[in-house]
This record gives sequence, structure tokens and C-alpha cells, in this order.
Amino acid sequence: MRRSLAKSNAHFQRAVQRLPLGVSSNFRYWGDDETIYIKKSQGGRIWDLDDNEYIDYRLGYGPVILGYCDPRVDAAARAGQEIGPVFALGTERELTVAEHIHKMVPAAELTRFSNSGTEAVMGALRLARAYTGKDGYVLLEGGYHGMSDSVMWSTNVKEWPANQPDPDIVPYGKGIPELIRQLFWLVPLNDAGVLEEVFKRHGDSIAALLIEPILGNSCSIPSDPQYMRDVRELCTKYGVLLVIDEVKTGFRAAKGGAQEMYGVPADICTFAKALGNGYPIAAFSGREEIMRQVGGGGIAHGGTYTCHAMTMAATEKNLEILDETSALDDIAAYGRRLQEGMSQILGARGVAHCFLGPPSMFGLFLAENPPTNFREWKQGDYTFYDTMAGHLIDLGVLCEPDSREPWFICEAHAHDERCLTDTLERFETAVDATIAELKPGRSQTTTTAN
Ligand SMILES: Cc1ncc(COP(=O)(O)O)c(C=O)c1O
Repeated sequence: MRRSLAKSNAHFQRAVQRLPLGVSSNFRYWGDDETIYIKKSQGGRIWDLDDNEYIDYRLGYGPVILGYCDPRVDAAARAGQEIGPVFALGTERELTVAEHIHKMVPAAELTRFSNSGTEAVMGALRLARAYTGKDGYVLLEGGYHGMSDSVMWSTNVKEWPANQPDPDIVPYGKGIPELIRQLFWLVPLNDAGVLEEVFKRHGDSIAALLIEPILGNSCSIPSDPQYMRDVRELCTKYGVLLVIDEVKTGFRAAKGGAQEMYGVPADICTFAKALGNGYPIAAFSGREEIMRQVGGGGIAHGGTYTCHAMTMAATEKNLEILDETSALDDIAAYGRRLQEGMSQILGARGVAHCFLGPPSMFGLFLAENPPTNFREWKQGDYTFYDTMAGHLIDLGVLCEPDSREPWFICEAHAHDERCLTDTLERFETAVDATIAELKPGRSQTTTTAN
């Protein structure tokens, strides 16, 4: 049965009078009758205006690592607020937090803070260009690095003509200058040969390779460990800085993020999301020799709201918890149990599937063989996932309707006794409803599943 969205729908009709699409981010608009507005949250659950409760596996696209309204972090934030807001001057906590980041991610020798992942990536890219004296950069197909013009490009796999060896490269939307296209190269993940070819031909113009080792915006497709080692070697060999974007993986995939998982240190890395359990904080960090160029070497960086006292206090507490408690282990254990449960339900019904990425942010791919890059991912058929996601959301399991987004886990899921059983019960119902709904086009379902 469809849940009632009467209040959210009514609010949408008012909101759209003053806010484009009735929201403050394009991704929050789910349709005139489907867009929901949140009233409150606690732990791993959120409630919309109509009091529909959801077990939330979107978690704001990853920031919420401990849980909503975590009493430890929020108490620290309130104490931080006593200091004041921002001063156009520093506070002592910036050092404490930078030291903690370095402890958890050794390659983060020095740190500069920002407010969002977008800003951190912008800072990292500017730094790489200034340090190397080159303007070009390489991106990975299926990667996402925020809202700045430099990185809002992707491969148009959807409209990829059969007689064309590579898909077209297109901006994410209008208003992104075509001129930028001259500055970057896009390569598929897990193909060191293609990367080396680009470096060989254009290395003199390339400042940085900007990579998410786990494609956190494309079903969590992971790099192969050998590929990451090759990437590190090739960057060093061709004088290209390795910029690892850990905005999603940082302080989530492991204490030391993707860099710890792969044993591959970045020259520059970026963080946001799980760094602050939802408080707006981001950072770019890296090797001392490179980072010293910020300011001293003539590189501009700053921002009025950078290092808000409340945010810094929350971040300090959040990192302390992630580093000193079993939170990340508990999250991973929950993620694995959730995958096992989902797997049993899907397997019992003959729906082929696999999981990608770390259990704290895993992709569910409805085919037997996992994709190794974005081109392969796009070759799937998503009818089953899309239909199932609609049922799940109706039943109170909030996953992203777009199957590229991973399922995010927080500590509160693991500590909520009913969370796993509630999720799996609803998952089973959603899978059965999907199978029933797609029955007339059963051949399509089977394609999806195989
Ligand atoms: C890997 C990565 N980098 C950068 C960003 C941009 O971060 P923000 O939305 O905070 O600007 C995101 C956002 O999802 C991301 O996943």
C-alpha cells in the first residue's frame, strides 16, 4: 500500500513557489508527488512530515557515520557553539583536528579545512596545478567530485552509438563552459594501460589524477588493488600528483579510508562527509612539501565560514569516537549481515546479484558479475532495482532511488536491535512485490537478474 505523502505534497506545492523544484539541491527533487521533507531524525531513522518512518541507508549521501542526533557529537557541538561562530581568525581546535586526521591518515601531513567536498576538491586541484605548474588533469569515468565546473563532466554511456569506440564526454548540465573540455582527460577505472597512454602522450600538461579508488557515486565499484599500485607508480613516474578523493570513503571505508585499504598514499587527498557526522566540514590534506605551497607559495585559499567553532568541536568528538571505539567495526559487521540477509532473499528467488565496495558503503548490483568500471555498470538493466527501490521507500527503507548510490551504514544501525530485522522483512516484501509487478515482462526481469 502506498504511504501517505499528503503533508509533503502540500508543502511541495508551497515550496515550489519560492524554491526551484521546491528544494535546495536538484538531487532532493523526486517528482512533484514524491518529494519528501524531513521533520526529525534519530539514530539510523528519519521521519517525514507525514510521520512516515524510514530506516535511512542514504544518510545524507554518507556524512552520518555514527547516527542522527548522536548525543556525544551534539553535546560537543553545543559546547563549541559557546565559543561563537566564525571570527575570520583561527581557534585551537583546527590543530587538534588536523593532528587527528594525520594520525588516522598518515599521508595527510598538513591540512587545510573547507566547508564542502566541492570546495576541498577545488582547493586540491588548484594546489596540484600550482605545485606542478601544469593545468591539465585526469578524471575517472563514473567518478564524482562535486559541483565545480572543472569536475562536472561524465561519459554519456546511455547514448553511446554502437559504431563508436568510446562514449561521448558531456558536461553534467548547462552553464559549464565548453572551454574546460580542453583541460582534462577521462579514463576508465581499472585500466592502467589506458592511463599510462594518456600520461605518455600528455604528461607534460597534466598536474593531477583525481580519483575515487572506490566509485562512491557509481555503485561503489572498487579499484583492483594492483590497479591502485600501478596508479601510484605511474603518477610518480610521469610527475603527476595523485589526488585521492576520500570525500565518501574517508573515515568510513576504514579508519584511514581508501588509502589504508589499498596501502597507497596520496600526494593530496580530500575529505568531507564522515569527517563531521553531518556537520559541514571538509578538508584537503597532503604531503608537507606540497601543502606548504598553500599561502606561503602564493596559492589562494580561504573562506568566511571555514572552521565554524561548533563544527570543529563536533568534528573533534566524531574523530575521537571513530578512532578510539569499535564504531567502524560495528558498522562493517552490520553491513555484512545486511548483505547476507539480502543475498538470501534474492538468491531464494533466483535474482542474480552481487555486492560491491566496502560493507559501510556498498553497492547492490543485480547481475552475477560485478562491473569493473562505469562502462560495464551502464550495460546493466535497472528495471528491477528501480521498481524495488520504490517499494522499499514505501515500506520505510530509504535507499537512493538511483541505483548508483551505495547503501550507507551508520553506527546507530548496528546498535538498533530492530534495524536489521525490520530492514530484511521489508526487503523481502519489496522483492516479492517487484517480482509480482514485473511478472508480465518476466523476460525483462530475468535480463536484469542475470
Ligand atoms: C567523492 C566526492 N567528492 C566530492 C563530493 C562533493 O561534496 P559536496 O557535496 O560536499 O560538495 C562528493 C559528493 O557526493 C563526493 O562523493
